[in-house]
Amino acid sequence: GQDPRIARISSAIRVIPNFPKPGILFQDITTLLLDTRAFRDTIDLFVERYRGRDISVVAGIEARGFIFGPPIALAIGAKFVPLRKPKKLPGEVISEEYSLEYGTDKIEMHVGAVQEGERALVIDDLIATGGTLCAAIKLLERVGADVLECACLIELAELKGRERLGEKPLFVLVNSA
Ligand code: PRP
Repeated sequence: GQDPRIARISSAIRVIPNFPKPGILFQDITTLLLDTRAFRDTIDLFVERYRGRDISVVAGIEARGFIFGPPIALAIGAKFVPLRKPKKLPGEVISEEYSLEYGTDKIEMHVGAVQEGERALVIDDLIATGGTLCAAIKLLERVGADVLECACLIELAELKGRERLGEKPLFVLVNSA
């Protein structure tokens, strides 16, 4: 069956209706961060999965990928690379645009942060449509990295983001349909 730690993690995530807009059921991971055991279990579950797989890069997506990515990176002996919203990174960047319900957004990565042939994991708190993770994969692949997998705490399965990732494996802890 399912790992017993998952139930605690799932119940530590607060669900807030109509945030930030009417009709949106917001998955709030800040309550999970307050539960030291659930937070530790979350990190442990990812570390148990990715330790020993020769991953040299954990790429975290702004903003909540910056919370979960670094402890995982440290534990598996990988570097942490932030993938940021536009105009936040001071060095030379490459950027990748992706479509939203209305309009487009962009994420950026520092040139030189990741070398050709590096083995990377992409981490975020949540996958909805999958647009953000797709853009992250493209950024890493453009510099010649090998993206092994994407990892999220929460999958909104109804939005079929997993399909948008195609063949790229996606590992999630909690499914929130
Ligand atoms: C949320 C979430 C993911 C993204 C997933 O971020 O943390 O990064 O949306 O959506 P997608 O699968 O449809 O691309 P948000 O847009 O709320 O930005 P923030 O983390 O900066 O608040």
